[in-house]
Amino acid sequence: MTGLPAIGSAKDFFDSAIDINDFKNDGAADDEKYWKHIANKYYIASKDYINLENGYYGIQPKPVLQAFQKNILLANKEGARFARKTYPETSAAIKKELAAFLQVLPEEIIITRNATEALNIAIQGYPFKEGDEVLINQLDYFSMIEAFRLLEKRGKIKVNAFEMPLLPANEDEIVELYQKMITEKTKVILLTHVSNINGLIVPVQKITAMAKQKGIDTITDSAHALGQVSFSLPALGSDFVGMNLHKWIGNPIGAGVLYIKKERIKEMNVLFGDVNTAEDNISKLAHFGTTPFAVIMTIPDSLSFHKLMSIEKVSKRLHYLKSIWVNELKQVDKVEIVTPAELSCAIASFRIRDKKTSDVADVLFKQNNILTVGRSLGKDGCIRVTPAVYTSADDVRKFVAAVKAI
Ligand SMILES: Cc1ncc(COP(=O)(O)O)c(C=O)c1O
Repeated sequence: MTGLPAIGSAKDFFDSAIDINDFKNDGAADDEKYWKHIANKYYIASKDYINLENGYYGIQPKPVLQAFQKNILLANKEGARFARKTYPETSAAIKKELAAFLQVLPEEIIITRNATEALNIAIQGYPFKEGDEVLINQLDYFSMIEAFRLLEKRGKIKVNAFEMPLLPANEDEIVELYQKMITEKTKVILLTHVSNINGLIVPVQKITAMAKQKGIDTITDSAHALGQVSFSLPALGSDFVGMNLHKWIGNPIGAGVLYIKKERIKEMNVLFGDVNTAEDNISKLAHFGTTPFAVIMTIPDSLSFHKLMSIEKVSKRLHYLKSIWVNELKQVDKVEIVTPAELSCAIASFRIRDKKTSDVADVLFKQNNILTVGRSLGKDGCIRVTPAVYTSADDVRKFVAAVKAI
């Protein structure tokens, strides 16, 4: 015995035919019947505990899981013949489909293993010149901060960090703050589209437009945005955007995307050795070696299911689930919500005055079977709460009751 939790019967996996009629209903954010049906029919999520830590990675819907299994079997059975003869064409078609989904050109994207890889390629490949400065803040993702700090350590750039207010009143306040922090030497702004710490959604489009007027680029981390909030990649205006497909798109783990605007590719330095690919070909940045075939081959299925669910419906549902607990707990004296409810979607965070965040998360899990996660934030930290489309309003209310009891 391995001690691993049971994963359900084979029937669960293979009973996954999609009925289009299931998705025809409006799927209003508070229509529990609709969402319960979707959850029961299309998701195999553990019923042993309440998972409010869906920010780590997304549970794959059953039809996607089934496609993934088929792809694993195919790659395994066919071996090198598949990889050499069939896969190149298949992967080119997948890239085309993914680019269409993102509304950009296939020549503007590469498929990576995750957002960290995508953004490292952009950050470390950006053609910085001596004296260039970069702007970051405490709500950016630590790996991207570290990538910039690494360049700073190597003497390539200077990193300027500022404190983002946790509860900005509106988007304009955020834009003005970035504007204020820009120096004459600022070359790049790191924009974390949706913060992994408190879920704050920054107005990427507005900040990028403001920055561009000053000749400043934005490198945008949309790891948590793609599939959680509705946005148009070209409309963002950011020439460098990293995303993943295994959080809110529901793809198997191990797939990310880097978008670079066509005319910017030429100037990018390569991170993985490659001297033969043309300077203006984005493939020069994707010299990865053998990639996870089955994960990549499942991308069309995860995109199809995601489209069927509709990003508008999904976003509204996630926002609704978040609002249930935020509206309840903000009235509790000792609870401090550190997320602006209207500038966030699924993710929001809180802390309890005079209590350690790790203790609160422990009580929630050990005594209430509710999984959340502590995040570093200033001296007190916070607890991040992330429902998913298969989360019920009742489960969120159980969480509210558990926090009130603490
Ligand atoms: C804002 C943000 N950026 C980047 C990442 C990294 O994503 P990945 O683990 O897919 O590389 C995460 C992961 O949680 C994230 O929250």
